[in-house]
Amino acid sequence: MLVGLESDPYEMFVESLAEALDLRERETGLHSKRVAAHTLLLARHFYRGMKDLREIYWGSLLHDIGKIGVPDAVLLKPGKLTAEEWLIMQQHPRNGHAILQKLSHLAMAAEIVLCHEERYDGSGYPAGLKGEAIPLPSRLFAVIDTLDAMTFDRPYRKAMPFDAAKAEILRMSGSQFDPQAVETFLREEETLREMTVLEFPGE
Ligand SMILES: [Fe+2]
Ligand SMILES: [Fe+2]
Repeated sequence: MLVGLESDPYEMFVESLAEALDLRERETGLHSKRVAAHTLLLARHFYRGMKDLREIYWGSLLHDIGKIGVPDAVLLKPGKLTAEEWLIMQQHPRNGHAILQKLSHLAMAAEIVLCHEERYDGSGYPAGLKGEAIPLPSRLFAVIDTLDAMTFDRPYRKAMPFDAAKAEILRMSGSQFDPQAVETFLREEETLREMTVLEFPGE
């Protein structure tokens, strides 16, 4: 782990909780840990202090913690969600924010969780924030979360090659994603590509 303290039983418990959430969503491998580590890779271009990096780590790791309140029938539904189910799903950033607010010294992490589903062009949720109104770590996280979703197998579809995912991210620069975040992704492209291959040797 990069910035947490392995020996702290409280932090180890929170990490296990993130893994349990991944398991419930039937994510392959360790989605939460991967996106936390990879978001830090981008965040290092903007943040130097350990306190900031630590909060970015926890915010990314626990981004979907609010899904704990989403029923299986909605969370694991293979098809399209109904309007009502979608409303339930859209509550997860606010619920996650409420959970993190209870942890001391994680105010920035709570903000990251609250804004992790916002989109640069304002089409995201829960508040429809636009551009720089979205905290920078959330804008960086959004690129990494999408990259991870595309390049690793999901229960409902196979992973796509890194270059196809990269093309998608470039296409959404300025709409779904902050161009500055996409630019930072390109600066770390080789490392991120290697990470993907490392998890799936032989592909
Ligand atoms: Fe989410
Ligand atoms: Fe995610």
